Formats: sequence, structure tokens, C-alpha cells
Amino acid sequence: MPVRGSLRAPRFFMARRPFALSLSGRNRCGRQGIHDPKIISETQKRGIAMTEIDPGNLPRHIAIIMDGNGRWAKQHAMGRIAGHKKGADAVRDTVRACREIGVRVLTLYAFSTENWLRPAREVKALMGLLEEYLRSEVQEMLENGIRLAAIGDMEALKEPIRGVLRETIARTSQNREMTLNLALSYGGRDEIVGAVKGIVEDFRKGVLSTPDITPDLFSRYLDTAGLPDPDLLIRTSGEYRISNFLLWQCAYTEFYFTDVLWPDFNRGELFRAIAEYQRRERRFGLTSDQVREGRPE
Ligand code: FPP
Repeated sequence: MPVRGSLRAPRFFMARRPFALSLSGRNRCGRQGIHDPKIISETQKRGIAMTEIDPGNLPRHIAIIMDGNGRWAKQHAMGRIAGHKKGADAVRDTVRACREIGVRVLTLYAFSTENWLRPAREVKALMGLLEEYLRSEVQEMLENGIRLAAIGDMEALKEPIRGVLRETIARTSQNREMTLNLALSYGGRDEIVGAVKGIVEDFRKGVLSTPDITPDLFSRYLDTAGLPDPDLLIRTSGEYRISNFLLWQCAYTEFYFTDVLWPDFNRGELFRAIAEYQRRERRFGLTSDQVREGRPE
């Protein structure tokens, strides 16, 4: 296990357990999930079409940059915090939808290292919303097999959010159906620097030697150790940036950008993004023919 630098999150916050994923990159839980009548009830109740989605080819890991809360609030003549509150409702619907269809990992960019520079009132409100979300959702997480994980600089978080986060992670740690991974006080560059520090430390201790240092090993020193890389990254609000999010992990991720502002995002938008993902050919540097044949020549 990597030793992390002093700025890195303590181990209990980490997403460490790898999932049993099929080698073909297909999510075996998807088919079962979508055809279970109990599971699709909410989606059907709301008349949202899922017909376009192939349940056998779901992204295992979806990462979302939830952007546009402030603009949504402005459009509705409300304060920014009201936008974040509506954004928390969109989080609820998105998490439920992912669980229902069988997505294994959902990472949400909830608070970046740069967000600390926002007005103190907004930072406080965001932390309050996160705390409220965790307190109100823990029961549902337990009932639905959702494990909570977090990535980022947890040392920077203050009480009570820190304690609530730690407690929710501990209480849900045995859940296996889905991981909800919150990026909190997270920055991709910070995470990479933390990984380098961990590797240097282990190198100094003699635990590692130069040939050991491979991309796979590097991944194991990141906060996301044990999680698959995102297959699909969604960014809302018409911005086309990665904003220091999962820089290493997105090497082969499919990007989906939508003009929808985060508070207006819902399961219908999620299914649209997944359908678009499924229309793409992921080549990972191979040729189309090689991908179709299922092996490099
Ligand atoms: C970006 O919109 C959004 C954030 C910085 C915070 C995201 C937080 C939430 C969705 C609510 C709470 C989260 C959870 C997990 C319960 P912005 O404020 O930058 O919007 P703007 O670009 O329109 O100003």
C-alpha cells in the first residue's frame, strides 16, 4: 500500500477495493439491473426512455463535473446557494439512476482545491449541503448496497463534515453494488504530486526499485487506487474543460459535454450521455479493424 504525503487523505478515506469487472470491459451487472422490474420503476414512473441504452455496454465508471449551479440560480433570479441546493437534488437523482441501471462507480467533482477561494459564505453553504446530503442519504446507501468513498485532501476539511464523511464511509464500507466517490478538496495535480511523494518515499525505504515504476504502479499511489479509470466523463453547463479533474485517470476516457446546467441534470440527461457513449468506438490506440476483431494483430 502506498505511503502518502502529509497532504494526502488518510487511508480510511480511500477507495481501495477493486471491483470484479469483466475483462472485455463490459459491465456484467448492467443487464440484470435494467431488466429488474423493481429497479426500473422510478424511471418508468417518470416516463424516461431507456430504450436506447445497451445494458451490456454500460460505462463501469462515470465521472461528472457538475457545473452551472451559479448560472442556474441567476437565470431563476436566485442566489448562488439556491443553485447549489438544486444541484444537490440533481445529485440524488443521478446517484439513484446509476445504481438502478448498474453503473459500478460514480465519481462526482463536488469541491475542488480551487473552490476554497470562493466567498466564505458559499464555501460554508457547500460544506453544509454535503453534510446534509450524507446524513439524509446514508440509509438509502445502506439499503441499496452503495459504498461511499472520497478522494482529495481530507485534511483540509473541517468538522463536522469531516466526521460525517468518515462515519458514512465506515458505515457503508461493506457495500458492494456501487461506489459513490466524492471528490472533495480535490485537485488532479495535487493528487499526482502526492503519488510521486509516495513513490519516492517507498523508493527511499527500498520497497521499490526503478523497474517497478510503471503506469500500473503509479495508479496504485493515486487516491483512486483500486477503482477502474472513468469510461465516461460528463461536464455540464457548456464548458469544455477538464479543470484539474482526474488528470491521470482520463487518459482514455470518453468525454461528453452538455449545455444543460447541473441543477437541470437528471436521469434522462444521464441516459442521453450513456447512449452517446455507446455510439462511440473506443480504440485505445488500436485500429478500427483490430477493435472489431477483438485483438491486436
Ligand atoms: C459548480 O457550479 C459546482 C460546484 C463548485 C459545487 C457542486 C456542488 C453541488 C452540486 C451540491 C452539493 C454536492 C453534493 C455531492 C451533495 P458553479 O457554482 O461553478 O456554477 P457557475 O459556473 O454557473 O457559477
